[in-house]
Amino acid sequence: MDAFLKNLPKAELHLHIEGSLEPELMFRLAGRNDVALPYDSVEQVRAAYDFSDLPSFLNLYYQGMAVLLTREDFHDLAMDYFCRAASEGVVHVDLSFDPQAHLKRGVSLDVQMEGLLGAMKEAESELDLSTALILSFLRDEPVASAAEVLERAQPWLSQISAVGLDSAEAGYPPGPFADVFRAARELGIPGVAHAGEEGPPDYIRSALDDLKVIRVDHGVRCLEDPDLVRRLQEERIPLTVCPLSNVRLKVVEQMADHPLPRLLEEGLTLTINSDDPAYFGGGVLDNYRACQAAFGWGEDIFRQLARNALEAAFMTEDRRQTLL
Ligand code: HPA
Ligand code: ZN
Repeated sequence: MDAFLKNLPKAELHLHIEGSLEPELMFRLAGRNDVALPYDSVEQVRAAYDFSDLPSFLNLYYQGMAVLLTREDFHDLAMDYFCRAASEGVVHVDLSFDPQAHLKRGVSLDVQMEGLLGAMKEAESELDLSTALILSFLRDEPVASAAEVLERAQPWLSQISAVGLDSAEAGYPPGPFADVFRAARELGIPGVAHAGEEGPPDYIRSALDDLKVIRVDHGVRCLEDPDLVRRLQEERIPLTVCPLSNVRLKVVEQMADHPLPRLLEEGLTLTINSDDPAYFGGGVLDNYRACQAAFGWGEDIFRQLARNALEAAFMTEDRRQTLL
């Protein structure tokens, strides 16, 4: 079974590239850039990753990315992750990044884009890994800031596959971002959004109605609203579920309590993803393995989940046909 899960061609649709920053690389970049870290060792960093909820994680996530300053840093961050992903049987990644979090630290969008796009090109040619980029807005920052980032991103629109919405969810509903997502759509860029991770089912509804998203990130709390479940099922809206993330951020207490089996019974279009692999205990393969251990699923279910991800990924139809 383990060899089957490893060799299964998997796509990762929910991955914050900043959340793939392993402590080893964090130290290397801190040394290279002369950035002080509040830790003495890699072990100390890992020991600090004991979260009580999403905000407690986000504090360390935003702190960790302080080592990312140059094009080379963004390139190395992405390449480090792409190599790991490829070694786990990942064939495609829709990676998201948080431009506002870097702009706020004085790192230009040029630096971010050139570093990430360079690594994406290299992944394609050297690892046979296709990639697509999702520009995510921070929902706990003003809407005007999101609008400004979209404006600044104009030179790279052809290389941005979607806009996203992430960061602290509770108290930050999607509705206010409707105009920004509409502006993106008018530029030919579809939307995805985190909803129903810590926030209520209404946030999922709002992401669909107000932002017109074509995928929902997480979405696990939809189960609290049977009408919404029916709608997600009928409209075949993909949910990018991240089981190990949900355990580490205490959305659920343990894997055995995860709602994935119930979501599956409801006939939803599910995908399995890692979210922030460096912080949550593993990549896509580890998430597949954790589901196998907790739910005892057979090969057919994993085949379907992997297929859902390939079908919902931002990739060319030619590439999709070679992978399906
Ligand atoms: N949820 C919301 N925002 C995030 C996450 C997450 O899991 N990871 C990085 N930004
Ligand atoms: Zn996420």
